[in-house]
Amino acid sequence: MRALWLCWALWALPLAGPGAALTEQQILGSLLQQLHLSEVPALKADVDGLVIPAHVRAQYVALLQRSHGARSRGKRFSQNFREVVGRFLLSEASTHLLVFDMEQRLPPHSELVQAVLRLFQEPVPKAALRRHERLFPRSDRARVTVQWLHIREDGSNRTSLIDSRLVSIHESGWQALDVTEAVTFWQQLRRPRQPLLLQVSVQREPPGPRGSDAHRLVRFASQGPSGGGQGEPQLELHTLDLRDYGAQGNCDPKVPVTEGTRCCRQEMYIDLQGMKWAENWVLEPPGFLAYECVGTCQQPPEPLAFRWPFLGPRQCIASETTSLPVIVSIQEGGKPRPQVVSLPNMRVKKCSCAWDGAPVPRKLEP
Ligand SMILES: *[C@@H]1O[C@H](CO)[C@@H](O)[C@H](O)[C@H]1NC(C)=O
Repeated sequence: MRALWLCWALWALPLAGPGAALTEQQILGSLLQQLHLSEVPALKADVDGLVIPAHVRAQYVALLQRSHGARSRGKRFSQNFREVVGRFLLSEASTHLLVFDMEQRLPPHSELVQAVLRLFQEPVPKAALRRHERLFPRSDRARVTVQWLHIREDGSNRTSLIDSRLVSIHESGWQALDVTEAVTFWQQLRRPRQPLLLQVSVQREPPGPRGSDAHRLVRFASQGPSGGGQGEPQLELHTLDLRDYGAQGNCDPKVPVTEGTRCCRQEMYIDLQGMKWAENWVLEPPGFLAYECVGTCQQPPEPLAFRWPFLGPRQCIASETTSLPVIVSIQEGGKPRPQVVSLPNMRVKKCSCAWDGAPVPRKLEP
């Protein structure tokens, strides 16, 4: 029995393999392929002034939400739940800045599954509603967009698109926005970390002069100088406790990966802003949590390996992945135009042991 166990263990593979970390070259290659380009386009550095059109934002956000849905499915019933109360730092016309003090809110042994921003939309006074209906009988909606605001050390700032959805002026009550990406970005900041800053803007829908004035009637509780009290903005953090659920496939963040580590999924953040080729080209996101598969797999006892020599050794590979939407700037007629592209297989959802990518017989899983 002992000899057999040894034989399984000694077959352990080196850490590199098909499950190895996503590289900068792979991301670039995938982007070029999706856009049918052979090289990185030469772009001018005027991206700051480049406005991402509403339909491009909406398409990007929809893809982002879909990849979240795929990521958090099946984990819904085993989550911890925490609520962080935030406040409006400042409100200017239709833009509000929200601040959440996040330090110590995410337990150390946990994985963020989802973060939901809840804002209380106040009912529109009846008189204002009647007036609006007279002027714009067919449009009662406005677009609410959330962006993560990052203030850099040199005082400059950058916003990243997080979620966007339509609200009606006939509704009131809690509105939910998915801000998981924002919390993920915040987690990558160097310590001591600034609070989580979310910029919420309410815009005309459809954008442009054809849209109604409904956006002027959307008000959130606690906004403005007299804010506070009922209906303060809230951030719900849904996390998985890795001590209980680490066995589901995530590596223990407190234990370094060694040759003896069993195949698991490890957090790996890819910082697109730090990549030279992405400058001026990739507008969103600033980075993403890709995860990687690390560790080794048990190998079958000799008789089995002898019977199926064509299978090769078992390796720790990404068995389920999701795609990553990005917004890139396309040069068209000398002008930059933002466009959404979906890059397949960028985020690892699950790692498993497999024979060179062959389907895995269930019983042999570690
Ligand atoms: C972000 O930067 C712009 C100019 O680049 C500035 O107008 C704006 O006030 C800044 N926002 C914050 C919240 O600091």
